[in-house]
Amino acid sequence: MSDPSPDTLSPMREFDPQLDVQDPGWAHLFHIPPHPAGDGESAYFAGNSLGLQPLATKGAIDDELQRWAQWGVEGQLQGPRPWKDYHEALREPAALLVGAIPEETVIMNSLTVNLHLLMASFYRPSGQRNKILMEDIVFPSDGYAIDAQVQWHNLDPAEHVIRLRPRDGEDTLRTADILAAIDEHKGDLALVLFSAVNYLTGEVMDMPVITAAGQRAGAYVGWDLAHAAGNVEMSLHDWNVDFAAWCSYKYLNSGPGAVAGAFIHARHVVDTAMPRLAGWWGTRTDTRFRMERHFDPPPTADAWQVSNPPIFAMAPVEISLKIFADITMPVIAQRSERLNHYLRELFQEVANEVPAGSLHVITPAEPLRHGCQVSVRFSGDIRTITDQLRDEFGVIADGRNPDIIRFAPVGLYSTYFDCWRAADALTRILA
Ligand SMILES: Cc1ncc(COP(=O)(O)O)c(C=O)c1O
Repeated sequence: MSDPSPDTLSPMREFDPQLDVQDPGWAHLFHIPPHPAGDGESAYFAGNSLGLQPLATKGAIDDELQRWAQWGVEGQLQGPRPWKDYHEALREPAALLVGAIPEETVIMNSLTVNLHLLMASFYRPSGQRNKILMEDIVFPSDGYAIDAQVQWHNLDPAEHVIRLRPRDGEDTLRTADILAAIDEHKGDLALVLFSAVNYLTGEVMDMPVITAAGQRAGAYVGWDLAHAAGNVEMSLHDWNVDFAAWCSYKYLNSGPGAVAGAFIHARHVVDTAMPRLAGWWGTRTDTRFRMERHFDPPPTADAWQVSNPPIFAMAPVEISLKIFADITMPVIAQRSERLNHYLRELFQEVANEVPAGSLHVITPAEPLRHGCQVSVRFSGDIRTITDQLRDEFGVIADGRNPDIIRFAPVGLYSTYFDCWRAADALTRILA
């Protein structure tokens, strides 16, 4: 971290370097990308899109490459972590991360694939009960997957997928409106599937209340945790969530396209007869290599595995989950809340300095309704703003059409100085 130089004097408050001294975070565990066009480091706010690389990741991949060189196929059985059992070591830290018991979690595949595998088990339209309730402002992949599942059952998404929009003039969904929609459709809902943290607005949903309401209405309730895992604290087991899936490349810092995670509640994993799209890695480990015809799943989330895991891609997930297990989710979430609060204060100062209406924060302010991300709506062209932020000021943030830029001060590695740089840069660009 370098001090702001005198030639960067801003109309805003001066930066107080004590903030980072008192609340330092863990940036030293990560590679922080350099300023794309200047000296020093960038101020990286895109951890909600792609998290940063832990220093330990390369060594972990190299170790597995070395084992492959040394053992060949014997690596399945030899060495400190035989590949055939590799995923088992990730189960406990994954469970810790999402508030599950270990039998309920498995690291496998990618997010949309896991949503499909889980919907194959949990979306079983029958008679009148055949609809899915979701949010309308959704990452498109979820919408495609849900429509495809409905079509897979020869139903029409236009009729069987209910997409909830915020009220006119509002940016985020109200819990009361979700509950009212569940109640309105209680006779025909088969599945309620929302994002726990909305990708665009950063809104955190009231997961326990919505889960309970959906289940009271007779539906299964699943959650996309893409923007929640590694961001906010969760208690999936205690909240009685039916299933959930997440990716590992955002707040979990496991690299582009990293292997994802899945949760299936304990009361479902014991039902080994549950329908699923099975593969050999979903059978019990003690009988798997007998190569028998009979599919013999264990009473754990492992039963949803299809193929054997990609070890070189599992190693970064292991490193990431270890960081979260060591530092712990509550500690990370509390620091991210402090950064989030500071960034919002600074953005308010920016709004006071620049022409009225240039920007406003759309992410809810209440601590339980947001995680790291602060989504800001701009009246100016967001491409120009994000380009200028990056190229002139080294501030990496993520623009989403038509008018929103997302800033994620990440509890693990973002700094107060990063936040100040973002606000200072915005003041200069917008003024
Ligand atoms: C909310 C949400 N769902 C789904 C996806 C798609 O994930 P994947 O490409 O890993 O399937 C993303 C990716 O960013 C996402 O943010």
